[in-house]
This record gives sequence, structure tokens and C-alpha cells, in this order.
Amino acid sequence: MKHWSRRDLLKFSAKLGALAPAAAHAFASESVHAFPGAPSFAQSAKGGNNPSLRERILFDSGWRFHFGHASDPSKDFNFGGGDYGFGVFAKTGYICLPAFPNFDDSAWQPVDLPHDFVVALPFVNAPELNDWGYKPVGRNFPETSIGWYRRVFEIPQSDAGRRVSLEFDGVFRNAMVILNGIYLGRNLSGYAPFRFDVTDFVCPGEKNILVVRVDATEHEGWFYEGGGIYRHVWLTKTNPLHIAHEGVYVTSQISGNSAQISAVAEVVNDSDTEKSFQFGHAVFDSVTNRFVDGISQVVSLSPWATQQISQTFHIDNPSLWSPDNPHLYRLFTAITANRVLPKWREVASLTSAPQLDSCETYFGIRSIHFDADHGFFLNGQRVEIKGMCNHQDHAGVGSALPDRLQYFRIAKLKEMGVNAYRTSHNPPTPALLDACDRLGMLVMDETRMFSSSSEGLSQLERMVRRDRNHPCIFLWSIGNEEPLQGTPTGERIAATMINLVHKLDSSRPVTLAMNNNWGHGASAAVDIQGCNYFHNGDIDKFHSDFPRKPIIGSEEASAICTRGIYANDPAHGFMSAYDVNTPGSYASTAEQWWNFFAARPFAAGAFVWTGFDYRGEPSPYKWPCISSHFGVMDTCGFPKDTYFYYQAQWSDKTVLHLFPHWNWQGREGQPIAVWVYSNCDEVELFLNGKSLGRKSMPPRGHLEWQVNYAPGALLARGYKNGKPIAEESRETTGSPAQIKLVPDRASIAADAQDVSVITVSILDSQNRVVPVADNEVTFEIDGPRKIIGVGNGDPSSHEPDRPPSQLYDSHGALLFASHSPPATSHLSNVEQDAVTRKVFNGLAQLIVQSQNRAGDIRISARAEGLSPASITIHFTSRGA
Ligand code: GAL
Repeated sequence: MKHWSRRDLLKFSAKLGALAPAAAHAFASESVHAFPGAPSFAQSAKGGNNPSLRERILFDSGWRFHFGHASDPSKDFNFGGGDYGFGVFAKTGYICLPAFPNFDDSAWQPVDLPHDFVVALPFVNAPELNDWGYKPVGRNFPETSIGWYRRVFEIPQSDAGRRVSLEFDGVFRNAMVILNGIYLGRNLSGYAPFRFDVTDFVCPGEKNILVVRVDATEHEGWFYEGGGIYRHVWLTKTNPLHIAHEGVYVTSQISGNSAQISAVAEVVNDSDTEKSFQFGHAVFDSVTNRFVDGISQVVSLSPWATQQISQTFHIDNPSLWSPDNPHLYRLFTAITANRVLPKWREVASLTSAPQLDSCETYFGIRSIHFDADHGFFLNGQRVEIKGMCNHQDHAGVGSALPDRLQYFRIAKLKEMGVNAYRTSHNPPTPALLDACDRLGMLVMDETRMFSSSSEGLSQLERMVRRDRNHPCIFLWSIGNEEPLQGTPTGERIAATMINLVHKLDSSRPVTLAMNNNWGHGASAAVDIQGCNYFHNGDIDKFHSDFPRKPIIGSEEASAICTRGIYANDPAHGFMSAYDVNTPGSYASTAEQWWNFFAARPFAAGAFVWTGFDYRGEPSPYKWPCISSHFGVMDTCGFPKDTYFYYQAQWSDKTVLHLFPHWNWQGREGQPIAVWVYSNCDEVELFLNGKSLGRKSMPPRGHLEWQVNYAPGALLARGYKNGKPIAEESRETTGSPAQIKLVPDRASIAADAQDVSVITVSILDSQNRVVPVADNEVTFEIDGPRKIIGVGNGDPSSHEPDRPPSQLYDSHGALLFASHSPPATSHLSNVEQDAVTRKVFNGLAQLIVQSQNRAGDIRISARAEGLSPASITIHFTSRGA
């Protein structure tokens, strides 16, 4: 039964009382987003009015949201309340009130995805919330742990007979998905992708109601995780004869100057008749769009059968993928009517043939291998892994990152000289991998659940099947610091998981990030030994005991520092930015771990904990600190001083970085430790023109002077081969005088997806950033826009990251079912739409998202006593 009968609906409505007529939120499928560098979106462009073609529609807009309640059905839209005459799962089609067509959602907040309902919540000083950034989610916070999402949509009558599926890139967590009142299923993991075939449940030509109840009560990690539909949702429509979801797998084998490409595809015939068709692939160079090679064959497929079709072809003189040359090829795969085609190489391209289904897969051609004595090799060359682990949240937006922010973050890491990213400790959003493919960043892709249970294997399988075509991935990880890692049970679990990975992807090895027991338990099963923290064991002994097992430093450092702070400050929860602090004996400073690995070329290099600060896990201080300090950059991506240590060691830029700032009013005559990071041979330091000495840079180290403070200018001059090649100064600034706004891009796509990331700085009257400024800035925006977040990198800031209006429904009432949310002290006094933020040590960040309308927006910023600033951002049909 696809629909409720009229009688059922009437009966139901009577129980609900006088329900207002349903608000008519019939949203046409949103237009397809296609900003440069987002291959998955490009696929959506197909289809149009031809119902036989595949359509992949981004399903991010037009949702409504409301909090529910984890323990009180009366505040949870009576879900499970037992008064509908049916049990929740007793009859198909009657699962919950919001799924009914006449349910009135007009008060629910209109939201677009990705959406993190946790980030807008106030901070709560409850010790059990420490790891998750003091946001009120969990068993003790039932009012703010359940999120309901509802979307009403239509699909045209002409879609009758097509296969339709809903794909979720990630929902945190325990998502229950309901279409037209019919329970589709639950997905537990907050990180693994999932999908439902909804062909039987959609009603072409009618209004369809999609409801998702998200229960974030239980945590999966020990770090901020957010909550809600925080990644994209897609609606895919195909012909009954189609290429399976994630059904194309491409690998390459390089030999001399050519590469053999093997493409394995799964084709599905979801129909009652046998089909005979032409099936094949065409490869294009994704940069030039030049047709490279193609192959096709005639295939017959029985009714309701699935077939794997393997084809191989060659590419001569391939452009090999690497971090320095992130070259991608595009594999166009198509099913066309069965007729004799000329050899596809001879046709202009496969795309011009009449198709029944098609899809695109981006891939790269490269070789990888690990060597137990020499580390990691990419395309035959040894590459030291200069990696960074990261969680997925960012300032302002929590876990719900627009795709463009992934590019922003990967670009920041690359500028530092980082060449590898570990998706600690969960499968990432696909957009992150697209960014790594396109910008050139190797990836260690990690599943969340270390288990060979059906749930653990299912999460792992979904990650590997989805991600295995990304050339950036060089290593799979089946877990991190698992208590069972050194036991026989751990070994059995690891062996089963690795066996599955090898079946799904024979082209990459598997590791487990272990923080002890190297050589025991799961060590026997892994292809590559992952060692978390060299202090946790004896890497040299492991290497001599297991000379055939390659090693990677799966996690290192855990050094802690706060941007722009130069003394530990427990009251504010800040750590000094000199590279001297760690939270425990397992951890090490940047210099310590890098020296250790640089001296051991048998290991493949390592991943720093972490590239960016993240919410939660504040260490070593707790409240008022709500973020970690492990990042080499803060939560906005503003560099800390250690950033320049890595940049000096890892990049080929000339680096000369001098710190601290030189605003020490009141400390005249007192010694200040002055450090320099550089890759020059020697550095000379001057205070107000007087030399304080010239020193040789120690390899992989830093230089240090004790300088008695006098206001003025501190200047470092770097020398290479005896010649001065760089200068850097720190000047005592005047007091704050003006605001400066600098967008990362002043022209962005008018597609309701793209963002501009705006750096806000406070300058003195001579245009110098005041490094100790903490002015509160108010932002005003004029034009079609959406502020999606503000941040400043202060790990102890309790200011709202999102406009507080996001906690109110469209009638202006608080968005909690009970209307009495926890600890809203700072909510009651705020002007709902004001966007204000203090700068932290001179800097803040504002993230603005476009709407679907082209036009200019004007952003202005004001602060008491300072000259205001304003900039214009252009929303264009193409973006920049
Ligand atoms: C590691 C762990 C990380 C993080 C880090 C903090 O042991 O793998 O997730 O907790 O410690 O130092």
C-alpha cells in the first residue's frame, strides 16, 4: 500500500485534533549545482526532460527542521507514544505524525543541507560533555539530541517506471528514514554513507513526504561530532536497466610509458524482459576534455539479473597523478541501445550515442607501494609522508561544511607543505576526497567502527566501495587505538576486515593505527604497521623484529598551543604557542617527532595530530576551554607559529618566521624568548636596528634569542650561501583603529552552495594587524546572502558561531518541543539576527554562502571606536 486511504487519514487527523492544512512546500527538484572542482555535482546535469537518462539531483534545499525529544513522546511528535491505534512498526505506512501529508510543519525552521543542529546550541558546562565540546547532546540532554527533518517534493508523472533511490552522504546519527509514511530503514553510523531504493514508495505526479528522525543521543567518537543531516542528500533516478550504484571500479597498471586501465562495472536489469545492449567506457582527459580511448561490447542480461563486466584498455604516455600533478581522467560509462556502433574511438565520443544510462568516474593513474626498508613509493619515487590527521569540523559551521570549505582547508594544508591527510577517525564526506584528488593530497581513509560484526563490515564496505576510485587514497585504515588491538580477538577482527577490503580493492594496503602492542594481536594481520606516537613503544625494535613489515607513523605530535598566546593560561584555557607543550608522555613537540622520523627512512613518515584545531577534546584544560589546541592551525585555519616550522621543513618556499609579536607594553626591560623558524642557512636578529647576533639554523630545529623588551621593531634577516635572501619583522603596533575584510574569493557561484571565507582583521592606524586585539565586530549584509558561520579560533570562546536566529522557529518561538531548552542564558538577551563576533588576537572569520540568485552583496563591519570596513562579493552564474 503506497498511500493511506481517505478513511485512515481522517481517523488519524481526528486523533491529532484540528490540524491546519498542510503547508504546501512542494519543491521542484533544485537546480543542479556545478562549481568547478566538484565532479559529483557534474553528473546531475544529465537527464533533463529525457526520462530514460540518469538524473542525480542534489536534495539539499527545501527542508524543515524541528527538535524532538529523546525520552518524552509528547515532545517528540508523539513518536512511539502508542496512541495512534497502531504500534510504530505494526503496519506499513503509519509510522509517525510528521510523515502525514496534512501534518502542519509551517512552524518548523526552513533549513538547507548540510545542516548541523548541534552547532547552534549554547555551550553547557557539564563535565560529561567535555569530549564533545560542551554542547548539550546525549542521554542527559533529551531536548536537544533528536532532530526531525521534513521535505515535501514532487517528481513528475513521467518518472513512473524509473528506478528511484535516495542517497545520504552522512547523517549523525541513528537516522530513521520515512517516505510517504513508509519506514525505509535506519542507519546507525554517523559517518558511513547509506541509500534506499524507493522505487516502490515514491508517487510520481504527486506530493511526496520525506521525513528523517535523527537521534544523536549516543556518541561514536570522543570529539565534536555534531548532529543532523550534515552532509548532502541525493535523489537518483535511472532506467530499470542501469549501472549499479557505485558500480564502476577503475584501476590502472603502469608499464613503461603506458598504463593498462581495468574497469569493472556492475549492470543491473530491474525489469521483466531480457535486455540486449551496447556497454562500454570512454576515457577523457579531465583537463583538456580530449578523448583518450574507449571500449564497448554487446551484452545480454536476463530479467532481474546483475552482471559484472570487466574491460581493459591502454593509455599511452599517461599523466601520472601525484600531489604535485593531481591529474585526473574521466571515465564515461554508458549503456546504449543494442546496435552496431563504429569503434568508439572513431565516434566523436560516447556521449553522442543514444543512451539508456550513463555515469562518470574520475580516476588517476599512479602506482603505490610500501617497502619495509625504504618507506612509501609513489610512481616509483620515495615520498615521505608529511601528513596531518584531521577531524571534520570547522569554525562557524560545525560538522556541516559546504564543499568549498573542504577545498579551502586542503589548500591551507598544502601551502604548509603537507602531502597527506588522515580522515581521523571516520569516513569523510565525498567532497573532501574530491578536493584531495583535485588539489593533490594523499589520503589515509579510515573507518569508524573496528569490528567484523555485520555492522562493522557494512560500514567498512560502504566506505571502500564509495571511495576506491579516488587516486588520492593510498592507504585504508580499519581503526584507531582499539583496546582489543593487541589481543587474539583483535587479530581475528582485523583479519576479517582486511580480507573484505582486499576483496573490494586489491590495489591498496590496509593499516590499523595502534598505540601499543606493536608486534602483537592485529599487527600480524595488517599490511602496514600503523604506529601512534613513537614514545608509545620501540619502533626500532619492531623494525628489527619484523623486518618485512612496513611502518607508518599513523599519528604523532599532539603538541598543544593557542594562536597568538605566549604563556600558558589555565584561567582562560590557553596554551603557549612556543612548541614546548604536550598533554602527556605519549606526545611530542613538532621538532621531536619530525627529528625522530627524519632519522628513520625505513618508516614511511607520519601524520601530525592535528592540522586544524577541532571542537571538543580540550586538552589539557577543560571548561571554559571547549576546543582542542592540537592544531597547527586554529579552527578557522589561521596559522599558529608551528605552521611555519613545518612549512620551513616541508615546502620549497623560502620561510623565515619570527615570533612572538612585539606588543609587550608593561614588560619593558624584561627578557622575551624570540624564536625563528626558517630554512635559510643563517639568521641574524635586530632590535631597533641593533644586531643581536647571527646564528646558523640547526637542521630541523629553531633559533632562539632572549631579548630584553623595548618597543619598536624586531627584525630577522635570513641568509643563504652567505647572502641575505629574506627579512621578516614584528613591530610594536598602535592601538586598534580600523577593521579590514579580505575575502578568499570575491566572486562566487550563485548556486546556494558556494561560500566566500572572509578574514576579518583589526589594524592600527598604520595598517598593521594588532596581534592582541579583541574588539567585538558586528557584521551587516545587504543582498541575497546567508551568513553560515563566524569564528575566531579562540578555544575558549562561548560566543554563538551561527546567527542565534537558527534556534527559533518560523513563528519566532524557540525551536525546542518543550519550549524550555537548557541553559539559554545568553540566548535570551541576543538580538536574533545580529551577527557579532570578537576577534581573537587580531583575527576572526566570517563565512558567507550564496543564494540561487546572481547579484552583488555588500558586507560591512563595525566595532566601537574603530573605522568600519566594507567589501562587495559578487554572486555570478559561474563563480571564480
Ligand atoms: C590520540 C587519539 C586522538 C586524540 C589524541 C589527543 O591518542 O588517537 O584521537 O585523542 O590522542 O592527543
